[in-house]
Amino acid sequence: MGTHGGNLWPLLKEGTFGLDEILDFSADLNPLGPPPDLGVLIQEAQGQIAWYPEPTYEEFREAAGRLHRADPAAILPGNGTADLIHLISRWRAGEDAAVAAPTFTEYERAVLANGGRITPLDRARLLFLCNPNNPTGTVQPREELLKVAEACERRGAFLVVDEAYMDLVEDPLRYSMIRDLARFSRLIVLRSMTKSFAIPGLRVGYLAASPGIVAGLRDLQPPWPMNGLAASVGARLLERGEPFLAQTRQALKRFRDSLREDLAGLGGIRPSPSSANFFLCRLEDPGWSNRRLADQLKERGILIRSCDDFTGLEPGRFIRVAVRRREENERLVGALREILRDAG
Ligand SMILES: Cc1ncc(COP(=O)(O)O)c(C=O)c1O
Repeated sequence: MGTHGGNLWPLLKEGTFGLDEILDFSADLNPLGPPPDLGVLIQEAQGQIAWYPEPTYEEFREAAGRLHRADPAAILPGNGTADLIHLISRWRAGEDAAVAAPTFTEYERAVLANGGRITPLDRARLLFLCNPNNPTGTVQPREELLKVAEACERRGAFLVVDEAYMDLVEDPLRYSMIRDLARFSRLIVLRSMTKSFAIPGLRVGYLAASPGIVAGLRDLQPPWPMNGLAASVGARLLERGEPFLAQTRQALKRFRDSLREDLAGLGGIRPSPSSANFFLCRLEDPGWSNRRLADQLKERGILIRSCDDFTGLEPGRFIRVAVRRREENERLVGALREILRDAG
């Protein structure tokens, strides 16, 4: 497994902090947490555990299809989108692929694990783009990506656009390609429900692509690729989740603006502009390393993401922090202020 944010388990095992005391800025989840009625949805769905899931996931695919105005045959559910990234790489096993570094590291891992190579763009048969991008937080307008998709069509290359954080940007329809599927025969859009609904433990994600691509990928999936509880709760969230996401986007903007200002005000830490729910930050003082900073925060029960494993980022210098609620962000900034002051 690659390095990812959200691994609070080693710190928990040390025993100094309980689960409720750890402040995790290393995983980029909805700062409001899960929707308030998640418990009710899980209770309503718990009967599903006694049965094998309905093998075609019709209810989930229809809910996703209605939301995105897509044919349900163009939707494929998976055990989170990490699972689907590996599935796509298995389907294109051995082919040359390109990624736009720095980006989510799992694309490269999945390609290499399936005998492929990471190559320059002009030689790639498969291109992974993340929009908004992890870890930079930048978002590309849909018009830009349409040009990329057209170029991929012309060259016979598959384009995978990972929209894991799309629900959290201010105007998703300005950026998303989910409504453009019918125009492209080689476009695959990944949609994770993990980040937007803060449900990383449930493992709910799906992709949207032409029915032909979906059929090819489905043939490679093991039976029941999504558990019954996740499928049922996921379908309800697709049907009813939009007001919660709209509320999230409003709150996130406020949290993000004040965290950015506070981080920049510390001196020595430079946050990049971000349209998502996290900041990539550069440590300006050469006397500081990201590992040392992360370790000192960990002693206070606060986790951040060191970015040394992201190809294309100068080692030792970069951290990624999630945007959380205002009071939690203030705790992070307070701890950073203390650490930097004590060191200076
Ligand atoms: C860009 C991106 N895509 C996909 C994933 C995987 O998410 P999940 O498997 O929970 O859907 C992540 C998780 O960190 C991510 O950052």
